[in-house]
Amino acid sequence: MSRQQDRDNEARAILTGNDRGGYTVPTDGLYPYQWNWDSAFAAFGFSTFDVSRAWDEVETLFSGQWSNGMVPHILFHKPDPGYFPGPDVWGCDGPIPSSGISQPPVAASFIRRIWETDRATGHARLQALVPKLADWHRWFMDWRTDDQDAVCVTHPWESGRDNAPDWDGAMSAIDPDGVGDYQRRDLGHVDAAMRPTKEDYDRYIWLVQRGRRLGWDEAAMARDVPLKVADPTMTFILLRANRDLRAMAEEIGQSTSEIDAWIRRLEAGAASLWHESSAAFTARDAVDGGQEDDVSNASFLCWYGGLAAPEALATYDRISEEVTYGVPSYDPHGPDFNPRRYWRGPTWPMLNMLIATGLAEQGHADRAEALRESTAKLIAEHGFWEYFNPLDGTPAGGKRFTWTAAIWLGWASPSARKD
Ligand code: SER
Repeated sequence: MSRQQDRDNEARAILTGNDRGGYTVPTDGLYPYQWNWDSAFAAFGFSTFDVSRAWDEVETLFSGQWSNGMVPHILFHKPDPGYFPGPDVWGCDGPIPSSGISQPPVAASFIRRIWETDRATGHARLQALVPKLADWHRWFMDWRTDDQDAVCVTHPWESGRDNAPDWDGAMSAIDPDGVGDYQRRDLGHVDAAMRPTKEDYDRYIWLVQRGRRLGWDEAAMARDVPLKVADPTMTFILLRANRDLRAMAEEIGQSTSEIDAWIRRLEAGAASLWHESSAAFTARDAVDGGQEDDVSNASFLCWYGGLAAPEALATYDRISEEVTYGVPSYDPHGPDFNPRRYWRGPTWPMLNMLIATGLAEQGHADRAEALRESTAKLIAEHGFWEYFNPLDGTPAGGKRFTWTAAIWLGWASPSARKD
């Protein structure tokens, strides 16, 4: 058997091994519950060999949807003392014990791809999901956009890029007074040098305690926001998700006018994140208006969001040339670059897939293929880790990681190539 077939088999074994019955954990131990965007990637991975199981994954995710439309970032299906903060800290009362914030809404875009693998079988399941997706996207449009129509995060975990330097300024303005003692569990699984700092965690937990105190009531939380950052991840991913939702709604005969209005608003919001001297889309503090100079891998989701953005290509090329394995989560020339620490430098294979998808769609097939090849090499040589040092490929974070296995099967593996 070839090495590539070995890797394909291993990737399928990771997905089935992380399957907990209708949902998939991102990795055993470190993340023992159902995470929102991880689950959408998992569904995409399953769709390469078990389409029905792919639908199950997203249906389980939407079984945790709140009555206000929000789909939580974690669903705590079964108690697990190996993770902090668990359901007792969040204090939420949705249909399934959960966190009180959401995560990048990649689900619509992967649901479209799953549906396209077998439209006939998926039709009824899609019909049931489209209104739920619309309710979730409406929640973002109502509660997470700023006055320039970019999508904001009100907790770093909502972005999925927890300790990205993008919100260092906003985070340092929070005084986590009264947060009290707590015990982190992540450091029992992963080297502390690869994870967020205690200063970060104090603020993460302080923000959770505040949300709980306000009963996770969005209107109450919006009255006085301690952290609100317009985020390229959220803005480009929701813009893309709305385009995919629109296509699905149209095909099954549901109205698209509301979605059209969302797309127009988010196109304006995306444009508002352009930072001239960085030649990239960067985060903006929606409270004080200050915009980041520093470029992250989320900046290069612009093409995935459907923008032509030719002026960002030179920045992408410059950053790609500075590392062995792109795309680093933060500019290696930036003052806060750290090649090991989570979202402050490491390369994340699943974000690479989204970036490459956008590059290919905007006519940059050579760059898309180069990124696919370098991501495939990274995984083939080192395994299915959560993230990697972009300078030398050293693995980091959790191992046997669901979304790394999923994007291998659906994109990076030579067997995933359609041509
Ligand atoms: N990524 C966070 C963690 O590391 C939660 O979403 O626990």
